Amino acid sequence: MELSETFHALGEPTRLRILRLVAAARLNVSEVVSLIGVAQSSVSHHLAKLKGLELIREERLGGFTYYSLAVDASDPRWPLIRLAKDAEDTHGDLARLTELLRRREDRTSLNEKLLEPGQSWLLWASALSSLLPKLDVADFGCGTGLLTVELSRWARHVTAIDRSPQALEQAKARLAREKHQNVSFVEADLHALPAGLPKHDLVVISQSLHHVNEPAAVLAQAARLLGPGGRVVVMELMPHGEAWVKARLGHQHLGFAPELLEDALHAAGFTEVTLTATPRDGSSPFRAFLLTATRPPRARRASRPPAERRAYR
Ligand SMILES: C[S@@+](CC[C@H](N)C(=O)[O-])C[C@H]1O[C@@H](n2cnc3c(N)ncnc32)[C@H](O)[C@@H]1O
Repeated sequence: MELSETFHALGEPTRLRILRLVAAARLNVSEVVSLIGVAQSSVSHHLAKLKGLELIREERLGGFTYYSLAVDASDPRWPLIRLAKDAEDTHGDLARLTELLRRREDRTSLNEKLLEPGQSWLLWASALSSLLPKLDVADFGCGTGLLTVELSRWARHVTAIDRSPQALEQAKARLAREKHQNVSFVEADLHALPAGLPKHDLVVISQSLHHVNEPAAVLAQAARLLGPGGRVVVMELMPHGEAWVKARLGHQHLGFAPELLEDALHAAGFTEVTLTATPRDGSSPFRAFLLTATRPPRARRASRPPAERRAYR
């Protein structure tokens, strides 16, 4: 390609800005438009010119056409590209590009969270919960009822318990909006639940234990509320160093070593304790884990003595 032709083409300032952006990241037309604030028709014209000079290449990805740099250090025009890349960013294009790439990454990780498996984790959760028998569930520390709503979709009845009247008001409003009528609300401290609550099949304690003073005492209350064979599900955070959550979010504990809660579950009379930890996510200081445990089934009536022993009676 003629060197003078390339010099001439890059003499146009907008084209130079576009080349520099495309040299830094693979971009589609609308992204370039949003970065340099020039009309799409003009951006398309400049991209076509750069492509005609074989400075950039075009490829189709996920229904969009993306542009990226097509030359490397072996091309005689490379010094010119380097000048363009190193030129002062007077319009702030590169800062906007950094922000765009960050948003793109966020979207990708959000998609990963939402769109798998089977296109939606929420649908997958609904599929699994639709297989459950109708259970009576207690939601310990229900907060504003986000999880309570999900529980009420498949439970026979949910007892939503929280000490905060404000949180309970919001939870009630949320459930009323959803027109779910299988939820009752109890304002109480999880360390000392009121007498007279019925037995439940399942207690869910989601991200509430790190708010209470005595997690072991709350697990003991869970055991008390469950009938024989009843289950408890605890969702918590691994130990972390984010001390700001104490003042800002009212946490009492900076996460828990799972063994600590496992021991507390055993001490409260639970058996069949299982632990599942979520994978590490480098972008978050918090890592969650799940514990499940079971109240032993009702002690069987003393079995009849074996026939040969009965014979001695
Ligand atoms: C982070 S929210 C959990 C919300 C909900 N479980 C979820 O997973 O979305 C913690 C809730 O626990 C409640 N809480 C904290 N200590 C409590 C206690 N001792 N007794 C009752 N509720 C308590 C707080 O009022 C708050 O609403």
